[in-house]
Amino acid sequence: MHNSAEPLHGTHVLVTGASGGIGGATAELFAAAGATVYLTDVDDIAGRKRALTLGPHAHYHHLDVTDEADWQAVVTAMEQAGHRLNVLVNSAGTALKATLAQTSLPEFRRMIDQHLVGTFLGLRAAAATMTDGGAIVTISSLRGVLATAELGAYGAAKSGVRALTRVAALELAEQGIRVNSVCPGSITTEITSAPGFAADDMESYVRSIPMQRRGAPEEVAAVIAFLASADSSYVTGIDLLVDGGTAAGVRTPKISTEKA
Ligand SMILES: NC(=O)c1ccc[n+]([C@@H]2O[C@H](COP(=O)([O-])OP(=O)(O)OC[C@H]3O[C@@H](n4cnc5c(N)ncnc54)[C@H](O)[C@@H]3O)[C@@H](O)[C@H]2O)c1
Repeated sequence: MHNSAEPLHGTHVLVTGASGGIGGATAELFAAAGATVYLTDVDDIAGRKRALTLGPHAHYHHLDVTDEADWQAVVTAMEQAGHRLNVLVNSAGTALKATLAQTSLPEFRRMIDQHLVGTFLGLRAAAATMTDGGAIVTISSLRGVLATAELGAYGAAKSGVRALTRVAALELAEQGIRVNSVCPGSITTEITSAPGFAADDMESYVRSIPMQRRGAPEEVAAVIAFLASADSSYVTGIDLLVDGGTAAGVRTPKISTEKA
């Protein structure tokens, strides 16, 4: 078990979606904590650029999470470099804002492929190589906890990620592998700038968040780091919400006492 003063130092970490907001912030945090970080993504230009800024212990590899051969290639590259995987962070994926009626079958399958199949392949690849134990952090979503209109395909895939995470926690506990999920609320990254998300009513949306603001990718990365490190050594099979209090419940509407 690692020293809890430097819980990530010397670990070998694989981050998917590392060219993006949450994956990128996670890679940066792990690198700053002294881990060897394998950044992976399908956006190779941004991923390589980011890896270069993180120093000699950061490496970039192309990894489409829906492609089994890509997973095998990265795990093999790590093994050949003498880096046994300690931590996997599954952060890849896009979102789709559309009603069920507007969602085509290929779009629905794309969400399931990226989030659910991608997580399944990652869990399987990591479990096969983490022979001395380790930690896996999957990224679900608040939308996998609270059903949300116009996020049906995405929410279904993210609910599946939570289910898969708990099954993996049960199945891998005896192998010394902890598996937990982080469920972010609205975080300021590219995914929420996509058409349909950067809605005109962002101000009223933010007012619906108990903490009255959106989250930063670094605030999700810090929770991922906690779940990946020995600081959470007796924690497995949980979903940790990072949502500014949104899923805590419903606030009663403010009733004006002013007389008309
Ligand atoms: N930002 C939010 O508000 C929010 C909220 C809840 C959950 N999430 C989840 O967090 C994760 C990271 O999202 P983000 O906000 O950093 O978005 P982002 O768009 O900044 O990053 C996502 C990254 O995933 C990569 N990617 C897409 N498809 C891929 C594939 N098939 N294989 C490998 N990489 C692929 C993209 O190239 C991108 O770099 C996603 O799973 C997302 O669903 C985000």
